[in-house]
Amino acid sequence: MKTSEWIAILDFGSQYSQLIARRIREQRVYSEIVPYDISATELSQRAPSGIILSGGPASVFDPRAPLCHPDIFHLGIPVLGICYGMQMIVRALGGIVKPARSREFGDTQITLIDTTSLFKQMPDQIQVWMSHGDHVERMPEGFHVLAETVACPVAALADHDRNIYGLQFHPEVAHTPQGTDVLRHFLFDICTCSGDWEMARFIKDAITKIRHQVGAEHVVCGLSGGVDSAVTAVLIQQAIGDQLHCIFVDNGLLRSGELEAVEKTLGESFGIDLIVVDARKLFLDALKGVIDPEEKRKRIGKTFIDVFAAEALKLGNIKYLAQGTLYTDVIESASPIGGPSVTIKSHHNVGGLPDNLQFKLLEPVRELFKDEVRVLGRELGIPGHIINRQPFPGPGLAVRILGEVTEERLALLRQADIRVQQEITDLDHAADIWQSFAVLLPIQTVGVMGDSRTYENVAALRVVGSLDGMTADWIRLPYDTLARISNRIINEVTGINRVVYDISSKPPATIEWE
Ligand code: XMP
Repeated sequence: MKTSEWIAILDFGSQYSQLIARRIREQRVYSEIVPYDISATELSQRAPSGIILSGGPASVFDPRAPLCHPDIFHLGIPVLGICYGMQMIVRALGGIVKPARSREFGDTQITLIDTTSLFKQMPDQIQVWMSHGDHVERMPEGFHVLAETVACPVAALADHDRNIYGLQFHPEVAHTPQGTDVLRHFLFDICTCSGDWEMARFIKDAITKIRHQVGAEHVVCGLSGGVDSAVTAVLIQQAIGDQLHCIFVDNGLLRSGELEAVEKTLGESFGIDLIVVDARKLFLDALKGVIDPEEKRKRIGKTFIDVFAAEALKLGNIKYLAQGTLYTDVIESASPIGGPSVTIKSHHNVGGLPDNLQFKLLEPVRELFKDEVRVLGRELGIPGHIINRQPFPGPGLAVRILGEVTEERLALLRQADIRVQQEITDLDHAADIWQSFAVLLPIQTVGVMGDSRTYENVAALRVVGSLDGMTADWIRLPYDTLARISNRIINEVTGINRVVYDISSKPPATIEWE
């Protein structure tokens, strides 16, 4: 995305890269993560106001360590290297990095030596989140120390003439209380950003980019009923109008009422060309006998694509498949550089795609976080009941039914889920809830109803708070609410005789059970 003012983040696989992007956008400066091996020529053409080299799990001593193109240091664009990024700067510009004798990791006090640039107006000592195995033994020519610790004589360095900076700690995490100020000094004093980025500008840029990318071609977009795909569709429609065709696949894995809501809002209100495909049997057949969560996701992803391909064929010459892929989907499915971060779950709109996909992908909200997509949606005029909807996973109820997915178990879960939704929507603090849903467990337990023994299913209740789905904590629901949900499910849903509450945070658990 070309905007007048933006920061390029070269991603070396740090789990915090997306957090850096977020912190910068919070300062109203657009930022985008780009591959670490982007060429200096491309960077120069795209003219960012500054370049950030992220951290990463590699060591600069690893012969296969990812390295940026050294010419980027000669573009005259300010550079900030974080952790691994700083060590790479040192090596690339002729300094020496040595493996440290002792690793420093976690909360650390650093002593500030130079408070004229990144650390302007800060006290002598600040707390930071340190993480390093290697340390700088000798700085490259032109650099001097900005901060030190006992174990790490170069905790921050700078060449003020060339505007190249390095931090051994992470300014983007909450454990570095002054981290935002450090980033602000980089953005506003050093890169001279103005901080005027806003969603209206994103829409304008995105529309230009979509028109440019798509030309006169036609696009199919999968609607899931969730916020991301709805916002994606409306954004694309604003760019290319009736070159967009939306397909809503009724995969049989939806919550009750989803299809009707999509038809009404996007079809009727926005006038989007909406094709509804009844593929319930196809999905159930694909899932027959499948228990492994990753296998479920892969099969669902593949079936989705098959259905799209078939529908697109009917439509004629479709070149693009649009998806509401978000930043978190990209990060959690695989590292953007295909390297060090591990796959946690194959999110269907990313990890499940086959290699021989016959569409080109159009993913206009790929760089946004969930809360940013909501702001975008409001700006586009999408009604609140769609925007504020809880996220719903692409593979739907299939990842909330542990064990085999069958029509009967889907019906059972749907019935339990309706009750959870009804009770949660009525709560005062419903807005604090990121997701609330029922999960059907693959076990049966003994109960007693009236005078009879029952041997029926267990439903787990999952209610979490989260900012962006990356981390989450379970909501301390009032006992009365828990009791009401449990009573309603057990009394009203035949086939469930026990309800348990999930009290796991993410990490180490994930939000969905599969
Ligand atoms: P987890 O379970 O990984 O979920 O903690 C994080 C957030 O992502 C949603 N989720 C998905 N969304 N396709 C999606 O579009 C998927 O395959 C998928 N899997 C999980 C989940 O509901 C939560 O909000």
